[in-house]
Amino acid sequence: MTITQEKPLAANVRADFPILHQQINGKPLVYLDNAATSQKPIAVLDTLRHYYEFDNANVHRGVHTLSSRATDAYEGSRDKVAAFVNAASRQEIIFTRNATEAINLVGYSWGVANLQPGDEIILTVMEHHSNLIPWQLIAQRTGAVLKFVELTESEEFDFNHFKSLLSDKTRLVAVVHVSNTLGCINPVKEICAEAHRDGAKVLIDASQAVPHLQVDVQDMDCDWLVATGHKMCGPTGIGFLYGKLELLRSMPPFLGGGEMIADVFLDHSTYADLPHKFEAGTPAISEAIALGAAVDYLTSIGMDTIHAYEQQLTDYLLEQLEQVPTIRIYGPKNGRDRAALAAFTAGDVHPHDLSTILDQAGVAIRAGHHCTQPLHRYLGAQSTARASLYFYNTREEIDVFIATLKEAVEFFGSIFG
Ligand SMILES: Cc1ncc(COP(=O)(O)O)c(C=O)c1O
Repeated sequence: MTITQEKPLAANVRADFPILHQQINGKPLVYLDNAATSQKPIAVLDTLRHYYEFDNANVHRGVHTLSSRATDAYEGSRDKVAAFVNAASRQEIIFTRNATEAINLVGYSWGVANLQPGDEIILTVMEHHSNLIPWQLIAQRTGAVLKFVELTESEEFDFNHFKSLLSDKTRLVAVVHVSNTLGCINPVKEICAEAHRDGAKVLIDASQAVPHLQVDVQDMDCDWLVATGHKMCGPTGIGFLYGKLELLRSMPPFLGGGEMIADVFLDHSTYADLPHKFEAGTPAISEAIALGAAVDYLTSIGMDTIHAYEQQLTDYLLEQLEQVPTIRIYGPKNGRDRAALAAFTAGDVHPHDLSTILDQAGVAIRAGHHCTQPLHRYLGAQSTARASLYFYNTREEIDVFIATLKEAVEFFGSIFG
């Protein structure tokens, strides 16, 4: 990739993504399902292959050359992730399978050890199921109570409502950074400051933020932050948990087994220092190394460049979507306050029907509840269609999407009258 200022960002990077250059149903693929998973650049694909061709060995165990190469690459990747989110120490980054596992780790370790009956956990009505179900389970187990921040009229995080829920009973605030359905970017720094004033801990679900924005955990001052590799140009099967060092030190292990121990006796064990205490068993080695390659790739473009390009593209997407008859777009209306996605409905047309027609034209979008079923219920929608962008998408692709969407809406309109 050579980035030049003259061309839009996508034109500089599209050659790096082989999957984008194919036909679907005889039409060029227009991939607009990036909030579900992003595509992977050659640098990431090559890293996966190189590892299995040249370096495959278990990490932290062998003294032989392959094992030390694999260990160096695996631990090197941790350094890259730590720098990417500006963690104060590499020991604050725990590799997990995905964001979901990282949230469960905090729930079953910190939550079970610290929460008492009557303690309160504040979530929002816009949480992905990954940041809801674990807390339902932990609340059932500990007697803690869940509270939910609602939305403002413009369908964003209601800060006043949040403040009214905070009290000396609040032990945890667990909030999504960028909603995968509303597209709103929540004021996470202010949320952390407000929650800390009441002595509560804060977990940020940054699954939709880390791929698109510069995320700085020290500036944000969150206690934990989670993200998932496959949405940020990395492979599936790898994600990470950031946690403040002393907090992670104070937490009991989540899973037990090899890799996470110091000394093992038949009746008890002592545990390895961070980060290994939370990485039981053989990890996803190639995936972790390839996540490091994804971080290198994103860094080489620059997160500010990615965000600025995506903002222009989002403005264009919203502008065009608003021209489609009967359209209802969910979330804030101002493109500047949004991430690069839009969930919408068009009259009574079922989102699955829209998605099927778009697929015939080579356009991949999502239809359903996007793992935010309570939010859909709150908004009075059974399901929505969602177009989600990444920095390799173009205005021309949005044009193809909109033209096909208009045709589909007109077609169904003529049937349903
Ligand atoms: C906001 C948000 N949180 C969490 C997740 C869960 O990610 P994963 O399934 O990789 O754990 C997603 C995935 O769609 C998401 O959009």
